[in-house]
Amino acid sequence: TTTSARTPRPQPRGGRARAAIAAKTLRTDRWWFAPLITVVGLSAWVIYATVRVFMHKWYWVEQYHYLTPFYSPCVTDRCVEGSSHFGQFLPGWWIIPDAALTLPFLLLFRLTCYYYRKAYYRSFWLSPPACAVPDGHQSYSGETRFPLLGQNLHRYFFYAAAIISLINTWDAILAFHSPEGFGFGLGNIILLVNVVMLWAYTISCHSCRHIIGGRLKHFSKHPMRYKAWTGVSWLNVRHMQLAWITLGTLALTDFYVMAVAAGWINDLRFIN
Ligand code: FES
Repeated sequence: TTTSARTPRPQPRGGRARAAIAAKTLRTDRWWFAPLITVVGLSAWVIYATVRVFMHKWYWVEQYHYLTPFYSPCVTDRCVEGSSHFGQFLPGWWIIPDAALTLPFLLLFRLTCYYYRKAYYRSFWLSPPACAVPDGHQSYSGETRFPLLGQNLHRYFFYAAAIISLINTWDAILAFHSPEGFGFGLGNIILLVNVVMLWAYTISCHSCRHIIGGRLKHFSKHPMRYKAWTGVSWLNVRHMQLAWITLGTLALTDFYVMAVAAGWINDLRFIN
């Protein structure tokens, strides 16, 4: 919500003050479990992704053209031969991620996502940690000031994320490769599932739902948009699940490509 700290709390009818309850919360269920598991899950993912992004190796399988999404597109002059589908126009300094063109936008897309906002406001900032549990801070200004005012930019990051999903789709298509020509292995299935899930998460975005069906006075006059909006709405109610599923598929895809590129495992091949 965007209720300001200056807004007086609603008083009960009759003008009496709120009940003076000393207890921090009267909830007796495990309300702390969701914030806790969110902190653990998001922290683990961010640590894994950071290590991988700055590892600068094991992101490309030359034999099968598998490229991990964490290095797509690979645009520094340090990128392995063949892994750069869009040129190498950035210097390969260690602080610059090899996918420096896309990672900042993906980070901002997720950081400003309506679901992740709810998740980290509740878990990392305890603002508030759960319904009927007091805010962990004295004041509350919602998203009315800098820097949280910037959350409004989410709608623009959506367009960037859609373009990046196209790039990931292109990577998945190029990966149907073997030294003999066409190839198909377990890595292809993993890359494809990841891309389908990324599209599902991106399309289920609240901004996307508004772009598709918002600002219309009469759905009856826009049957195509109504149909598309119905589909996006179906996905939209699953946005939280898709947010977590895509964290899982991204990490799994990256790990699989790393394991094959490092020679820890062999790709299970069905064709060539
Ligand atoms: Fe989550 Fe847009 S609301 S990606």
